[in-house]
Amino acid sequence: MSRTIYVLNGPNLNLLGQRQPEIYGYDTLDTVAENCRKAAAPGYAIRLEQSNHEGQIIDWIHEARGDGAAIVINPGAFTHTSVAILDALNAFEGPVFEVHISNVHKRESFRHHSYVSLRAEGVIAGLGIEGYEAAVRRVCSLLGPA
Ligand code: DQA
Repeated sequence: MSRTIYVLNGPNLNLLGQRQPEIYGYDTLDTVAENCRKAAAPGYAIRLEQSNHEGQIIDWIHEARGDGAAIVINPGAFTHTSVAILDALNAFEGPVFEVHISNVHKRESFRHHSYVSLRAEGVIAGLGIEGYEAAVRRVCSLLGPA
């Protein structure tokens, strides 16, 4: 049985490749999924999801309690607002990595605070979409052979 890494994406990330490409680049979420699958060690499966709705993201985190080995999450703007996503992640036992495509610390001050960082083992910001692959690699080395 493969171990599943959830790669969860929050609001507006469905528009990746189209919205503010000067900040987020031209690659799409499909490319992110493909790259994560390539980066995962043998025996690991990637489940990539995106939603514009906070409750849906929380439901996926709850599902990960059942079959998720780890969660890689880019919560989008919910990063800076959502205690509910933090609470859901606190109910998940595996490793959590937070990814931001842009360097949030170089941007507006409201992006400097993250609720999710209170739970994450690691935070990656400013590596573009390569941040997702880096997080998946770290998960696989942390958890070891599947
Ligand atoms: C983001 C940064 C957030 O501040 C923003 O709201 C996003 C994307 C990033 O990947 O850089 O939607 O999480």
